Amino acid sequence: MNTITAAITAVGAYVPEFVLSNQVLESMVDTNDEWITTRTGIKERRLLKEKGKGTSFMAIKAAQDLISKANINPEEIDMIIMATTTPDMPVASTGVYVASQIGAVNAFAYDLQAACSSFLYGMSTAAAYIQSGRYKKVLLIGADKMSSIIDYTDRATCIIFGDGAGAVLFEPNHEGLGLQDEYLRSDGIGREYLKIDAGGSILPPSKETVENGQHYVFQDGKTVFKYAVSGMADVSEKIMERNNLTKDDVNWLIAHQANKRIIDATASRMGLDEEKVLVNIHRYGNTTSATLPLLLSDFEGQLKKGDNLIFAAFGGGFTWGSIYLKWAYNKQ
Ligand code: UT7
Repeated sequence: MNTITAAITAVGAYVPEFVLSNQVLESMVDTNDEWITTRTGIKERRLLKEKGKGTSFMAIKAAQDLISKANINPEEIDMIIMATTTPDMPVASTGVYVASQIGAVNAFAYDLQAACSSFLYGMSTAAAYIQSGRYKKVLLIGADKMSSIIDYTDRATCIIFGDGAGAVLFEPNHEGLGLQDEYLRSDGIGREYLKIDAGGSILPPSKETVENGQHYVFQDGKTVFKYAVSGMADVSEKIMERNNLTKDDVNWLIAHQANKRIIDATASRMGLDEEKVLVNIHRYGNTTSATLPLLLSDFEGQLKKGDNLIFAAFGGGFTWGSIYLKWAYNKQ
């Protein structure tokens, strides 16, 4: 039997300084703080405003934060998985650039795109490389500059998304800690409800697509909400059931921060008390690939060795799933 498990051994994060509050949004589109707060739980989000800086800027900062906190030599990193939906450029992997910039000269890198589930799927991939014994240090980064694909005249999307980045290091563990089980799903039925129409191979960018705003995110929020509530709750319940976890066994729910109401519905189906549910959506909004590592970074001090964490996410595609992971360290 394979006795190597894949544990998260370090965390890093970065969010840009610029804060876009609900109050400021009120002056940009027809919305109000009360609506945004009660419908989503969001109060403010961070935006990367500086010209010429893309997702890699935040990913590098998050990786450097992890490297300095964990005191590791970047030359020891074997591979980097860059989870993102907003790469620096459509061609030329963002992860490759990040690897070079942080001095991970012995690593290979690539990007992984699964919308808001990118980081969750990345956890599965990173863990599989560790469990197989093939690599010893896998850096998983989740970063998105959502402000680069959002139409700030569309109130259906501009109130939701924000920019940010987080990173975790996966390493082998011999005490049985780390990733225990995963239940990952996808369904192409979701393709029409959350998408960017233009800029890909079906509809290459043109003057017309730009004039029509087809390079921005489109979301049918109501439909996505419906699928997200049932999808995230279903997988979280299922992973508890098949690992014989009761609500008392689960220490923390680490759920994608898309909408506080979706998080609450998932927690309720799992029977979890509020204090076990990590939430920072009020500060950052939906940062797509960065929500899960930003939660780990914000709440790292509360996580204890041996704690049972349930991760859950839902995103465009549709993509969704749940991961059961045992936390491997106490923060120094
Ligand atoms: O992370 C990837 C996955 N994405 C998600 O999980 C997002 C899922 N969807 C959602 O979170 C929610 O659907 C939204 C937050 C996007 C919208 O909330 P909702 O409760 O589904 O609102 P709605 O679209 O049903 O709109 C309700 C009302 C409408 O007015 P009427 O028709 O009832 O008069 C909208 O026109 O609210 C209106 N509305 C707004 N009002 C103020 C829609 N957007 C806004 C707004 N400010 N920004």
